[in-house]
Amino acid sequence: MAEENKQKTAEIEAKIAELNERFKDATAEEVIDWFLEEYKGKIALSSSLSIEDQVLTHLIVEKDPTARIFTLDTGRLFPETYQLIDRTNLTYNIKIEVFFPDYHEVQRMVREEGINLFYNSIESRHRCCAIRKLEPLRRAFKGLDVWICGLRHQQSVTRKNMQLVEWDDMHGLIKVNPLINWTEQEVWDYIHQHHVPYNKLHDKGYPSIGCEPCTRAVKPGEDVRSGRWWWEDPDKRECGLHQRY
Ligand code: ADX
Ligand code: SF4
Repeated sequence: MAEENKQKTAEIEAKIAELNERFKDATAEEVIDWFLEEYKGKIALSSSLSIEDQVLTHLIVEKDPTARIFTLDTGRLFPETYQLIDRTNLTYNIKIEVFFPDYHEVQRMVREEGINLFYNSIESRHRCCAIRKLEPLRRAFKGLDVWICGLRHQQSVTRKNMQLVEWDDMHGLIKVNPLINWTEQEVWDYIHQHHVPYNKLHDKGYPSIGCEPCTRAVKPGEDVRSGRWWWEDPDKRECGLHQRY
């Protein structure tokens, strides 16, 4: 059994290395086009409605308007994010699938630790992210082989070693980050050139937007993710969606 697992891991690693080599000089569009075709019906974009995810939505809809795009509604998002879900659906004539957390779990958590438990400790914050994001994400992943993500190297210290194509061992999926090498400026140039709808909060000092109680505006020049879980150590500021093993 151990030998079998070893061989499987080696096969997966070889495949991921081959895909990274194949697409090392490819544009985001080429990467998306190839994956949408190769994994039709088994691929989805998980969108937080960030500027990166909006660019990916635009590219995906151009290639295949029926491709799956989903978002996790934690119940604690900004009103501007809900408005953007609607605006994006209208602009592209699509229906972003919305996944909600299990309300039993949310109720239990809030009764035990309070509505704003995330400020109490890192464990409580992880519990909230696990219930409001990770469990619905697992449901959203059912039947998928590949998930498309908007991660970029420049976003934070926790993301500088990520690759264009990765194996997500936690979920057993191939993870593709077509914008991995893009700068923030390149993302904004694309948004403006193609009139891609974006979150109004970006014009008010919020470069990275998650849940309302865990996101604040940043000053010009500050790290783009410094407004996310700002009370925690920068090396640990991930919600668990992008854990590396
Ligand atoms: S987070 O881990 O800090 O919340 P971030 O906002 O940078 O993540 O987004 C990175 C990628 O994680 C997004 O491009 C998206 O693929 C996924 N993601 C994050 N939050 C959500 C969400 N609420 N719904 C769907 N996907 C999400
Ligand atoms: Fe909960 Fe904050 Fe995580 Fe949102 S970002 S799920 S509110 S801890």
